[in-house]
Amino acid sequence: MAFAAKSTEKTKYHYTYIYLYISIYIHVHLQCFSSSKHSLSDYFISEREREREREREREREREMEDEIFPMMGGDGPNSYAKNSNIQRKAADVITSGRLVPSIFENLDIENAQHSSISTAFRIADLGCSVGPNTFIQVQNIVDAVAQKYQHTRIQVPEFHVYFSDLVSNDFNHLFATLPRDRQYFVAGVPGSFHGRLFPKASLNFVYSAYALHWLSKLPQELRDPKSPAFNKKKISYGSAPYEVGHAYSVQYATDIEAFFRAREQELVPGGLMVLLIPGRPNSTLPAESSPAPVFESLESTLSDMVNEGLISEDKFESFNLPIYCPSMEELRTLIEENGCFDILKLELQPPMSISLPSVQECRAGMGTLLQKHFGDEANIEPLFDRYSKKTTAGNVAEDGMAVGFFVLLKRRYL
Ligand SMILES: C[S@@+](CC[C@H](N)C(=O)[O-])C[C@H]1O[C@@H](n2cnc3c(N)ncnc32)[C@H](O)[C@@H]1O
Repeated sequence: MAFAAKSTEKTKYHYTYIYLYISIYIHVHLQCFSSSKHSLSDYFISEREREREREREREREREMEDEIFPMMGGDGPNSYAKNSNIQRKAADVITSGRLVPSIFENLDIENAQHSSISTAFRIADLGCSVGPNTFIQVQNIVDAVAQKYQHTRIQVPEFHVYFSDLVSNDFNHLFATLPRDRQYFVAGVPGSFHGRLFPKASLNFVYSAYALHWLSKLPQELRDPKSPAFNKKKISYGSAPYEVGHAYSVQYATDIEAFFRAREQELVPGGLMVLLIPGRPNSTLPAESSPAPVFESLESTLSDMVNEGLISEDKFESFNLPIYCPSMEELRTLIEENGCFDILKLELQPPMSISLPSVQECRAGMGTLLQKHFGDEANIEPLFDRYSKKTTAGNVAEDGMAVGFFVLLKRRYL
């Protein structure tokens, strides 16, 4: 009896333990289950979020390709190949006496050699358009780098040059006209320089001339009649209300930030970057300087056509040039904000007068942009006829002085 009572007592304890054990087991596993359920739903949410972000990124890329336009391709009378003297002259003036010493004094070739398994020296020209300008500058860079290697008695490496521009650039023409006696390998890289174009730490030298003033897109408020930045009867920020210039400068800052973020990844530590950037005088507001003399004649041509009923007012009001020229202080701040580059040189180009672009030069640079915006409403030819008469008649703005910057940056060591 006593045994039975003891045994019942024991069994009671036994059951209590089993009960406790089972409830702890269930509790722990329910916890795990609920937390795993939680992390699973988290996973799906973040995957959805990532997909949405990817979609937004694709949308941004589509917008970019919609709004920016390449130079006129081919080698016809209105092509960029035949009408890029202004850029060539400007690049000559600004780089002569600067490019070679800059490379010679600042290129760390011992480090570059040791940090890379391959010995090829990789150069990218971003916004290269078509030749001949890109070929001339690439040759100058290759020669300067080779000189530095020879001087240091290190074997001159093989060169690999990446010609990069928007997808719609005339790469066929570029490749068909490559210099025959070049001593470098070549590849074409299509895409916007506002995003990544190359693998991490794969470039030794980046060059970009007269391309970074093109914005990835226009600020929306320029076309919004309710916004103080609505750019009425104007196609750019010169002489426009303060808010217009401000909207342009905010978009420029966003774009340049994206440009530097991509290059900071792509350049090897110690790698150099030379940028030729059209700018505006220091201590001036955007409204106080026109980005280029071509724009005033273009603006007044378009305005005449609205008055003649050839173009609708709406079409004119919704047209703005996606181009912005920073001041030197503005540019310096943007580079410093990125924090991955040492500014070795940020210099003003020597004074250089720029004559008003001919109608062919205007067509070479702006033709595709104007055609895209106005082409569905009006024949584009009367526009260029009028522009041509205006510029030859001389009733246009005085020839201006070009302001541009020579920028030499070095990718900081990590
Ligand atoms: C005025 S051309 C300069 C061409 C050449 N660098 C030179 O000095 O003659 C400007 C070039 O920048 C390119 N460009 C503009 N925005 C770009 C972007 N986001 N990504 C790549 N190229 C771009 C244009 O397609 C055009 O070929």
